[in-house]
Amino acid sequence: DKINKGDYEHYMLKEIHEQPTSIGDTFRGRIAIDKSKIFLGGITDVMPKLTQAKRIIIAACGTSWHAAMVGEYLFEEFARLPVEVEYASEFRYRNPVITPDDVLIAISQSGETADTLAAIKMAKEKGATILGICNVVGSSIPRETDAGVYTHAGPEIGVASTKAFTSQVTVLAMMAFMLGRKRGSMYDQLYKELIQELTLVPEKIVSILKSESYIKEIAEKYKDATNSLYLGRGYLFPVALEGALKLKEISYIHAEGYPAAEMKHGPIALIDENMPVFVLATKDKSYEKIVSNIQEVKARSGKVIAIVTEGDETIKQLADHVIEVPDSHEAIAPLLTVVPLQIISYYIAVMRGCNVDQPRNLAKSVTVE
Ligand code: G6P
Repeated sequence: DKINKGDYEHYMLKEIHEQPTSIGDTFRGRIAIDKSKIFLGGITDVMPKLTQAKRIIIAACGTSWHAAMVGEYLFEEFARLPVEVEYASEFRYRNPVITPDDVLIAISQSGETADTLAAIKMAKEKGATILGICNVVGSSIPRETDAGVYTHAGPEIGVASTKAFTSQVTVLAMMAFMLGRKRGSMYDQLYKELIQELTLVPEKIVSILKSESYIKEIAEKYKDATNSLYLGRGYLFPVALEGALKLKEISYIHAEGYPAAEMKHGPIALIDENMPVFVLATKDKSYEKIVSNIQEVKARSGKVIAIVTEGDETIKQLADHVIEVPDSHEAIAPLLTVVPLQIISYYIAVMRGCNVDQPRNLAKSVTVE
């Protein structure tokens, strides 16, 4: 009986609201009570292999590919491992260099995406160890892998992925922190601090969800836009890509996600007073740089909707609208900052009369190649 809309008008909205619970379900039983350790039972057997891997390749499609990109930043920073993120559909048709020292992680909500499955089979033939991060228990991808971690986000019905994304990022963070500790590239104190930060995510999302009606008012202002831009740096660059994907999938407004610093090499030419620019601008090591990117957009009369850390007064003076999220370590920020972007896309699509749960031309699971 979990699969009904309950009091919500659409599955997507329900699934957005489920995130405090679904993320909690992802780490339940996998973090020690005293928050000193992470256990991922599904990958215990391959831990020696993973610890000694020369490289991690992450293959996925769509939203899962965006989670993979967050994974790249996490694995590099905390486990000090080289990572390559691949669109499964490109990877499988190239002739990539894969060795038995590589570990391939396939990420898929449905566990049925044909290209991701084919990428696994190819990497397997070349001797790589294969891990899966999937939501649907017993689906095809987990059956092809050597080991893996289920996201346990619960059934996701809305075609536009929301809670599956945050659960995938949660698993990737747990894996990266655990691996960092095992490889000795992360101090115990930081490890514990980040575990603590992860466990605080559900309550922080509850507080973001309280801004829903305010975010809806912002949606009302931009519902007639024809183009939009999403900017982020570091951990928030993949979130910019995901925010843009959410908007284009369900509202059919053209949206581009870009690394904020790359804006000057192209998208800046598009900015005028009709262009909403969503900027992920929480306080992290690139904060000063993102503030100057906001100034660049404002200097060209673009409309800035900034996602900021609670209490940020600087950006409030510059942006047209700010949406606050609670403070966190920057590695955790994707889990928080994506939520207002999901909400804004949802309301814009509803206001445009779009079929939010089943957007035109899209399928929940792409089992064709
Ligand atoms: C389709 C869905 C997306 C999803 C992608 C990958 O395009 O509409 O929401 O992100 O497939 O699906 P997967 O199940 O492999 O994560």
